[in-house]
Amino acid sequence: MEILEHAKRNLENKGFLEINTPNIDYVDEIKRLKKEKNAVILAHYYQIDEIQAIADFVGDSLYLAQKAAETDADMIVFAGVHFMAETAKILNPTKKVVLPDLKAGCSLADSCPPKEFAAFKKEHPNHIVVTYINCSAEIKALSDIVCTSSNAKKIVDSIPLDQPIIFAPDRNLGAYLNKETGREMLLWDGACMVHEAFSVEKLITLYQKHPTAEIIAHPESQAHILKTASYIGSTSGLLNHVKNSDKKTFIVATEAGILYQMMLDNPDKEIIPAPAKEDNTCACSECMYMKMNSMKKLYLCMQYELPAIEVDKDLSKKAIVSINRMLELSK
Ligand code: 13P
Ligand code: SF4
Repeated sequence: MEILEHAKRNLENKGFLEINTPNIDYVDEIKRLKKEKNAVILAHYYQIDEIQAIADFVGDSLYLAQKAAETDADMIVFAGVHFMAETAKILNPTKKVVLPDLKAGCSLADSCPPKEFAAFKKEHPNHIVVTYINCSAEIKALSDIVCTSSNAKKIVDSIPLDQPIIFAPDRNLGAYLNKETGREMLLWDGACMVHEAFSVEKLITLYQKHPTAEIIAHPESQAHILKTASYIGSTSGLLNHVKNSDKKTFIVATEAGILYQMMLDNPDKEIIPAPAKEDNTCACSECMYMKMNSMKKLYLCMQYELPAIEVDKDLSKKAIVSINRMLELSK
């Protein structure tokens, strides 16, 4: 019976079947499973509101990697995208790590195929490789040190000035770091489709309607968007900035999931999502990968412990070196 149930769950994850869960209270069931299986739910700020509300820890990529590294739970439930769960698995090779939807990928990670990147690295043998955590285990294994948007400057600054660097995969974060650090890192030409979707024309029109607003942006955004921003930072950086600022209105250029926590933290402030190019309806940018996870899928992945993330042992041993260097430098 149990084998059949697991087979069904596998088929559902491949998109061949839909498991019906009538009359299930997902909040109650997820809480029950959390206790029963000694599970920890880690959720990124871009997840849907209900998932953020039920998670044990909600945070940016660095915070979630740190929580994954230190947890004593038996099962890590990663409400985020694949590279995040994969990083958690590399840090916890003996633990079960599950992701509500295995198809929750990342356009930025996809923009850096390992074979092409290995060839690029070979062309520049005197460079060391700094990679943004939004990449596959294969890319991490080809890297010297990993970074996230909240520690990228610190990590680049820790490298001697005369040491040439390849930065991958995000060309926008890389260009921003070059400007901030005065370096000329060689940039891989990758990008996040959500952060490249903002329209500077629409942003200016919106700002003209709210002239007292402060524009704030995530560094995965393009240079012309970052130029309009008076604060640039990671998701947690943006949240802290709004909390600590005296301003009353903010236009926020990052994925719209962050608005949930921002509005909870600042009920007296007006938070406006930056407009996307192709969007004439809701004026906000959503990551289709982050939004693949739902309460139903969260419940199912905890109930069946599927889909579980697996990483090849040798690959994992190589990739953990660059991740641990970052964690060491971020203490
Ligand atoms: P941070 O939460 O680390 O700022 O990352 C943003 C992001 O794009 C995650 O996919
Ligand atoms: Fe990847 Fe961009 Fe989605 Fe983050 S927001 S998971 S970088 S596609």
